[in-house]
Formats: sequence, C-alpha cells, structure tokens
Amino acid sequence: MRFPGLVDVHVHLRVPGTEHKEDYHTGTAAALAGGFTTLLAMPNTQPPLVTLQDWRIAQTRAQKESLCDVFLFAGASAAHIHELPTLAEHTPALKVYMDATYGPLRVQGLSTLSSIMQTWPSDKVIALHAEGESVAVGIAMAAIYRRLVHFCHVSRKNEIELIADAKARGLPVTCEVTPHHLFLTQADAARLGPLTDMRPRLASQSDVDALWQHLNSTIDCIASDHAPHTLAEKAQADPPPGIPGLESTLPLMLTAAAEGRVSYERLLELLYHNPRRIFKLPAQSDTTIEVDEKASYIFPDHPLYTKCGWSPFTGCKMTGRLISVIFKGKEIFRDGKVLPTKP
Ligand code: NCD
Ligand code: ZN
Ligand code: ZN
Ligand code: ZN
Repeated sequence: MRFPGLVDVHVHLRVPGTEHKEDYHTGTAAALAGGFTTLLAMPNTQPPLVTLQDWRIAQTRAQKESLCDVFLFAGASAAHIHELPTLAEHTPALKVYMDATYGPLRVQGLSTLSSIMQTWPSDKVIALHAEGESVAVGIAMAAIYRRLVHFCHVSRKNEIELIADAKARGLPVTCEVTPHHLFLTQADAARLGPLTDMRPRLASQSDVDALWQHLNSTIDCIASDHAPHTLAEKAQADPPPGIPGLESTLPLMLTAAAEGRVSYERLLELLYHNPRRIFKLPAQSDTTIEVDEKASYIFPDHPLYTKCGWSPFTGCKMTGRLISVIFKGKEIFRDGKVLPTKP
C-alpha cells in the first residue's frame, strides 16, 4: 500500500541547546524511519524561538542539517510580543504554552494571552498546549477574536467533547491527538514508571475510549509529540516529561487499521491531508511511502534512529510495516535503513 509522505505537526528536535537529546539529523532520520517526510518542530528550545533572529538561525540550520522538510514554529512570550507580526511573515504557526510543561515558554496572565491572540494574524494558526480549563480559554479566544486555534495533544474526554461542541457551533478550532494517549492509560504509567511521564499525563480508560470515539469526527490530526529525553535524564529524581514517538506512530496507527479500529483512508486524512490544510504546507513532489499493511513483527523492526535511543512501545506486537520512503524522487529509506545521501 502506498501513501504520500506523512506530516507530523508536533515534534521536538531539541535544536538549539539540547542536542544531546536529539538534533535535526537524528530527528529527521527517525522521521523517515517512521514514514514522515514533513515535520513541524516546536520552539521550546534553548534559547526558545521567540525572536526573528533566533528563529531564523534555527530554520537555516534545519534546512542544512535535516533529511526531510522541517518547518519551525515560533514561540510566544510576554517579552517579545512586538516580534510576532514579523515572525508571522516567515513561520507556519505560533505556539503558545498555557500550562506547565518542559521548557521555559509558559505564557501567564490574561492580558499577555489576549494580546498574543490579537497580534498573531487571525487566519494563521496558533497552536496551544492547553489542558483542562485552559482548553475552554483557548476556545473563548477563538470565538472572541474569530481566529484559528489548534489544540495540541488533546487527551481527556471533557476536552475532546468541548472541542466537538465548539466545532458544532462553527468556531475555527482544530486539534490533534497523540498515539500514546490513544494506546496507553494510567495503568501503563504505573508499569513503565518515569519513562511514560509526559504532559498531558496518561489518562483513564474512559478518556481513551472518548478519543477513539472522536477519531472519525472531531480529531483533525494524529501527531507524535516526539519529545526525546535521555534514559539518564528519565532516571533522575525529577525527570523531564516527554517521550519519543516518531518511529512508533505509524506502526501503532497501521496496527489499529489492521484491527479495523480506523480505516486506512481516515489515517491518510489524519496524517497527511488535514495537517497540510491546517498549517498550509506545500506539496512535496514525488514523495511517497510504501507499507506492508499485513506484516506482523515486534517493535522496533530496526535500531531506533532517535538519539534518545528508547521507546515506550519496545516489545509491542505491530501489524503494518514501513518498507520504503521516496523523498523528492529519491529512495531515502528501505527495510529499516536510512540510505546515505550525497552531501
Ligand atoms: C514536551 C517536551 O519535552 O518538550 N514534553 C511533553 O511532555 N509533552 C513539551 C510539550 O509538548 O508539552
Ligand atoms: Zn524582542
Ligand atoms: Zn505540550
Ligand atoms: Zn510537545
């Protein structure tokens, strides 16, 4: 079965500043090994990408060092709201963190939030890390300022139901869910320990069931929230939240399709058409992936390319295997190997 190269709208490639976790080369190798040829990377780096200058340096590096297409989000911060109009001319979207998570980018205070919401062009996406009540605040902002708002990694029944209600009332909101919130619950968190600590935290079975119920309607995108941290960091007393996901997302979703829980057509919408439409991403010519949707194996079927070197899904039985990736006319991945490219 062939698909176009997939799009992951939520990854952390850790450049600049924490390249011991991941870098553009290893992160995009992991992307290719997971069937993704376009990535949207988050700005919670060190320094965070909140100025045109820092964003530009990082985007130039991304172009040079990546094996597939990478677009960088700009980040919003109270101190740099004046930069947003120029950033908007260059970046695909803005990221706003409303709740505590990894990195320094939390936006606090209603006046800061509403001025960000009014300054960023209303027809360009603001992606929100918003949990619980923050989701309601984000929906209110979309309604009041008639602007696009995209909700990252939605994980709770009450959140997805609120977003469904907002959509039913015609508000311009979209959302993504991660495979880990579709395939893991709090029970797995207890079993896997700090390795599965992430934001939002894993939820209950009824939350997971609600996400599956909304997979054919409310949910626009599947995004990995690939958030690599090293095993040593995860073993610390106060481990950073986040788990890698670029290499397990497609196997998990293909497994769900093989089991009849979602159609292959719907997967194409969630992993390609909707991401491209929402973030207005360019088409990639002659870029396709080939999967053997019937192949069964124990994950991973290749040594992981992510620099952090681990996955919470190691040892899981998957049905559906990536065979090959053609990127802009050239085969760049086959049978578990990212192929060498000419410099
Ligand atoms: C992310 C990270 O490590 O950058 N961590 C996480 O738990 N999801 C930050 C984020 O996406 O909130
Ligand atoms: Zn500034
Ligand atoms: Zn987040
Ligand atoms: Zn994230």
